[in-house]
Amino acid sequence: MNKDPERREEELLLKENVVERGVVPVWVVCVCACLTAGTLLAAGAVDRRLPEPLPTDAPAQLFSAERAYEHLINLTSIGPRVAGSYENEVLAVRQLVSAARSVAAAASQHNLVDYDVFTASGAFSLTFLDGMTNIYRDVQSVVIRIRGAGEASGPGRGTRPGPPAALLINCHFDTVPDSPGASDDGAGCAVALETARALAASRRPLRHRVLVLLNGAEENILQASHAFVSGHAWARGARAFINIEACGAGGREVLFQAGPHDPWIVEVYAGAVPHPFASSLAQELFESGLIPADTDFRIFRDYGNMSGERRHASPLPAPRSPSVDIQPNGHYSIIIYSLV
Ligand SMILES: *[C@@H]1O[C@H](CO)[C@@H](O)[C@H](O)[C@H]1NC(C)=O
Ligand SMILES: *[C@@H]1O[C@H](CO)[C@@H](O)[C@H](O)[C@H]1NC(C)=O
Repeated sequence: MNKDPERREEELLLKENVVERGVVPVWVVCVCACLTAGTLLAAGAVDRRLPEPLPTDAPAQLFSAERAYEHLINLTSIGPRVAGSYENEVLAVRQLVSAARSVAAAASQHNLVDYDVFTASGAFSLTFLDGMTNIYRDVQSVVIRIRGAGEASGPGRGTRPGPPAALLINCHFDTVPDSPGASDDGAGCAVALETARALAASRRPLRHRVLVLLNGAEENILQASHAFVSGHAWARGARAFINIEACGAGGREVLFQAGPHDPWIVEVYAGAVPHPFASSLAQELFESGLIPADTDFRIFRDYGNMSGERRHASPLPAPRSPSVDIQPNGHYSIIIYSLV
């Protein structure tokens, strides 16, 4: 029983240091829980607020998600479109050429539209996984060019000599073997085609050229975009790009990667679009080399010497109409173009 007096003193000291706390009243807990839930619900509602999809009979110069959706239905009804397959090289290309013709037919008198189906072979090295040389033969793409009717020929604005400056919009229509590729990247091509149609139909001549590249070999790996930037005559004028790609299925449009130069691209996006939504997480992950995945973004940056942005476009699974999610993407592309 005889405790060491020093020890007792220590115990007393310890006890004295314990601050007595009252129990938090239940109502405080309830108020905190309600506030948190309310904030989360409000954030969720704001997050889901998207522009209304425009119908097929919307004015010609506006992007209509319903019209874009038709392209998506047509493309996915072909089924999986693996580069090199009959579905990709014949059926999909035939359909896209017909879509390019409709873009040309819908152009206003102020804009000129032409398109080219091109086949190319080449090779490049990828610093990807443990590095490889990627060799391809006869990959196909369809590219649509839109320019103002009165466009001055010769050097573009600015100091760089060469063909007039152009904005490149890229998507790919090939898929992996087991998917009809609605998200990756049918939705991107649907958005790109409807954007092209709306721009061509605008009642003013375009100030700068727009190139829409519907590329036919991205999945194994990034070949058609390389074929375009390294070999196609129209690519020489391309100064900036918008790469419309998937990052998972569903969800709202997100600006996913940007750079490497020209921060004005992000500034224009942030300042001009009604619901800007971006994340720098992917950029960091890609740059760290942690994820063994990449997109045409890398090709345009490394071989095209272009800055640009990569955006996620994807239809959302039922019951929401997929066109709801397509609308913002096209909307933004047009707004961005008008400011570039
Ligand atoms: C989709 O395919 C149908 C049937 O071939 C065609 O009539 C229609 O114009 C296509 N839609 C678009 C947007 O190209
Ligand atoms: C790449 O583009 C930048 C400006 O966008 C230019 O200053 C530079 O000379 C270009 N480099 C090459 C190799 O064309």
